[in-house]
Amino acid sequence: MKKHNNKIVTLTVSPAVDKSTKFAGLVAEQKIRCETPHFDAGGGGINVSKAIARLGGNSLAVFTVGGATGELLQDLVKKEGVDFQAIRTESWTRESFIAVDTITNAQYRFGMPGPAITDMEAKEILKTVEEAKPGFLVASGSLAPGLGDDFYEKVAAVSRKVGTKLIVDTSGAALEKAVNEGVFLLKPNVGELARLVKAESLEINEVDDAAREIISHGKCEVVVVSLGPQGAVLVTKDICEHIPAPPVQKKSTVGAGDSMVGGMVWALSEGKDYHEMLRWGVACGSAATMNEGTQLFTKQDAHKLFKWLNTYGEKYQIHNL
Ligand SMILES: Nc1ncnc2c1ncn2[C@@H]1O[C@H](COP(=O)(O)OP(=O)(O)OP(=O)(O)O)[C@@H](O)[C@H]1O
Ligand SMILES: [Mg+2]
Repeated sequence: MKKHNNKIVTLTVSPAVDKSTKFAGLVAEQKIRCETPHFDAGGGGINVSKAIARLGGNSLAVFTVGGATGELLQDLVKKEGVDFQAIRTESWTRESFIAVDTITNAQYRFGMPGPAITDMEAKEILKTVEEAKPGFLVASGSLAPGLGDDFYEKVAAVSRKVGTKLIVDTSGAALEKAVNEGVFLLKPNVGELARLVKAESLEINEVDDAAREIISHGKCEVVVVSLGPQGAVLVTKDICEHIPAPPVQKKSTVGAGDSMVGGMVWALSEGKDYHEMLRWGVACGSAATMNEGTQLFTKQDAHKLFKWLNTYGEKYQIHNL
């Protein structure tokens, strides 16, 4: 019997070094004193790899790096215990700045544009993915300047060629084009799903039909629509299942979507079915909201919430919908 390929690769074409700090009071024209900053490796695919590592799984994070900030990014990824393959770019890796005002508790997130990626560098990324031939590939995050909004479409074509199950988590034209080529799994939030089906907005009770529309066109096998504090809906050709988010003390929702994707792809690589995949996704997404700032989740919280969903999820759903 052919062995199932459960290798996971994540792809981040526009990663960032996230620099987080706190300050007391936002005042223009004056020097704002900030606390000692904390550095994290950021970007969709890298976050997904970090989430998989938290759960005890393995993945290979493929991402672009350039300049001194690129060196720092690699150090930060190494510290997370994530295997990686860095693709050199001429331009420097970008930085993001996240600052919390301790007086109002408001969080300010400043994102810089990513470095432009050349055609040669883009080809290198596609070649790396093709040669890795993973069982699962997660392409997550925004595209870098210079790539063209059809880049994930090219990733989808390569995935199909080498028999890789592609999971795409992005938005706008990049998402639309990838879906037109065909992907295995999508995890849009409601806004992203609405744009995909060309609707202005969607009510929660319209989400399953919208997801089914994409599946019926043969463009995708599984759609998991994330609903923030309301959990998520799983839709396939034969299944439609809503699972609520467990009640948690929310601190910051940053990284909830990436944690959810990490939990789902890890579950699939462990041979779990779609029902269990959905519960791991919701558990990891909600566990990520229990921590401040850009921190993801702890293994303990994810397991606790997963257990909660298995025990109370169904009952809770009946009373709350
Ligand atoms: N306020 C919350 N309370 C509990 N769980 C939450 C909350 N917000 C998000 N989650 C969990 O995280 C999952 C993903 O969140 P969400 O739907 O906000 O994704 P997203 O919009 O893609 O997020 P991101 O901005 O990280 O990309 C949800 O399905 C849910 O399990
Ligand atoms: Mg998201």
